[in-house]
Amino acid sequence: MAKLFFDGKAVPIGPSESILDALLRDGYNVPYGCKSGACQSCMLQAQSGELPANCQPGLSDSLKQLGYFLSCSCYPKADATLQVHSSPDSVQKVPAVVKEKTFIGKNTLRLRLRAAINYQPGQYLTVWKDAKLARSYSIASVASLQPELEFHIKHIPQGEFSNWVATALQTGDTLYLQGPMGTCFYTSGKPEQPLVLAGIGTGLAPLYGILREALEQQHSGEVFLYVGAKSSENFYYVEKLKQLESSYSNVQVKFICQHTTADHSGDYYVPGDIYEIIKQRHPDMKQHKIFLCGAESFVRKLKKQCFLAGANMNEILVDTFLAFKS
Ligand code: FES
Repeated sequence: MAKLFFDGKAVPIGPSESILDALLRDGYNVPYGCKSGACQSCMLQAQSGELPANCQPGLSDSLKQLGYFLSCSCYPKADATLQVHSSPDSVQKVPAVVKEKTFIGKNTLRLRLRAAINYQPGQYLTVWKDAKLARSYSIASVASLQPELEFHIKHIPQGEFSNWVATALQTGDTLYLQGPMGTCFYTSGKPEQPLVLAGIGTGLAPLYGILREALEQQHSGEVFLYVGAKSSENFYYVEKLKQLESSYSNVQVKFICQHTTADHSGDYYVPGDIYEIIKQRHPDMKQHKIFLCGAESFVRKLKKQCFLAGANMNEILVDTFLAFKS
C-alpha cells in the first residue's frame, strides 16, 4: 500500500483513493473545486517520492518540474512513498478587484473584475474567494474591447460560491485568480472557415467571448451561434446578440428551447431540440470549426454528432462545465 505524508504527518490512503480524498477523509481542510482535474484549486507540491502519471494535466512545464500536481487526480502507486506540501505558495494568484456585479438573466449573474492577466476569450480562470473556496468560470470578455474580465455565473441559492457572490460580494472587494487554463478559444489563420458555436445556459459566456474575438480578428466566414435552454425565460444577452447579428452579415444567432412564451416567438427564437436543429442546418461539417460549451452530457452528445457529420476532431473545441454545486 502507498505511504502518504502530508506536512510531515502520515495519512492513511486506500488502494484506489486519490490524495485529495485521503486528506479530506483524514480531516484536512484542503481546497478543491471540480474534483475532475480542471480547476487546479487542489494543487499540492511533492517534496519527495515518485508521482504517478496523469496527475499533472494542464500544468506548465515549470510547475511540473517543481513537483506540483492535482491531488484530486493523483492515485499513488502501491509501492510509492510520497511527501507532499500543504500550500503551493509559489503558484501565482493574481488579485482582482470587483468592478460590477449584476443579474443579467433570471438566475445569471455577470461579474466584472479588473486584474492584470493575459488571456484568450473562452479560456477559464479559477476564482478564489479565500484560501479555501474557489470555482472555475469561463471568460466572456475580449481584452481589446473592455478593460474588465467578465464571467457569467449561474446563481444556485444553495451553492456555496455562487450564493456568496450573489448575496455578499461587493463592488471594490478583492478576489484572487489562478490561470488562465483551457484551449477552447479562437485562433486566426482560416478566416473563411465556417464556425459553429453551440452552448447551453452559461455556456454562452465563453462563446460570447469567442464570437467577438473572431469578429475582432476579421473572421469573414459564416458564424452560427446556437444557444439552448429549457425555457426561453432562461436566455440572457438576447438584445446584445441581436445587435451583433444585425451589424455583421456573416453572423447568425438562434436561441433554441423546447418551450417558448408568446413574447419569445419569432425567427430569433426557435422552438425545438438543439441537437436536431443543428443536425438539420449543418448536415456536412467537414469544413467547420466547432466550439461546444456547457454541461458534460450536452458537449459529449453534440461532439459525437458533429464528428458523425464529418467534422475533424481537431476542429472541435470544447469547454465542459463540471457538475458540482456552485
Ligand atoms: S479539484 Fe482538483 S483540479 Fe479541480
